[in-house]
Amino acid sequence: MRVAVIGANGRVGQILCQLLKKSAKFEPLAVVRDQNQKNYFEQDLGIEASLTSIEESSVAEISDALKGCEAVVWTAGAGGKGIERIFTVDLDGAMKTIEACQKGQISRFVMVSAINAEKRDAWWSTALRNYYIAKRTADFALRCSGLEYTILQPGSLGSESGTGKLCQLDQIQSKKSDFYLIQREDLAQFIQLVLENPEITAQKTIPLANGDSNMQEILQQI
Ligand SMILES: NC(=O)c1ccc[n+]([C@@H]2O[C@H](COP(=O)([O-])OP(=O)(O)OC[C@H]3O[C@@H](n4cnc5c(N)ncnc54)[C@H](OP(=O)(O)O)[C@@H]3O)[C@@H](O)[C@H]2O)c1
Repeated sequence: MRVAVIGANGRVGQILCQLLKKSAKFEPLAVVRDQNQKNYFEQDLGIEASLTSIEESSVAEISDALKGCEAVVWTAGAGGKGIERIFTVDLDGAMKTIEACQKGQISRFVMVSAINAEKRDAWWSTALRNYYIAKRTADFALRCSGLEYTILQPGSLGSESGTGKLCQLDQIQSKKSDFYLIQREDLAQFIQLVLENPEITAQKTIPLANGDSNMQEILQQI
């Protein structure tokens, strides 16, 4: 399966592209926004890359870039860099990518959202309000899109080694005190599992934090 990774140069995106490249089941397409990034993916990692800024491209251009892909993973983000980029990347960039999938008949879409996105009370009075408005709205659009979606809602992302373990879904709220921490390596590994298991994960919204259960167990709880 050819899988486009939007935000491939990001910290989750890079781990995911390399995992998909190693797997016999997938062929990643790294969607990046800088020629040096494209060179790095193609020359150093042997991963095909598309130079497509989601912010600057039209739906038709994004659709062209995604031609030949059967699934898309959204793991891009403005990184909280001001309200305008939250609008143009986290919100409209995600919406344009959803529209591009509809236009190009790519039915599978895995969205990296954020923990508690649908619970306004959890974030309305925090510094993350604008970011969360964008994430919540993009999730909402995806649920209404007719695509075969999975929305992953990780907590705070860490860059230490993966643990291979996640929190049981019915115990996740108890992780609030550590900001629902999850290592990026674990998130990337779970994205790969989601792509491998559409029959379990399609049309689902899944909160994620590290915990004590192996990932196969979590899949069975969905
Ligand atoms: N940080 C957290 O604690 C947290 C928590 C929950 C969810 N999330 C979500 O998790 C996802 C992955 O996070 P991360 O830590 O991997 O983020 P990251 O390292 O900041 O990577 C985000 C990537 O998005 C790319 N990007 C930005 N604008 C773009 C555009 N116009 N066109 C194409 N690509 C663009 C960036 O490109 P450049 O490399 O060129 O800058 C970067 O590679 C994001 O969706 C984020 O919102 C984060």
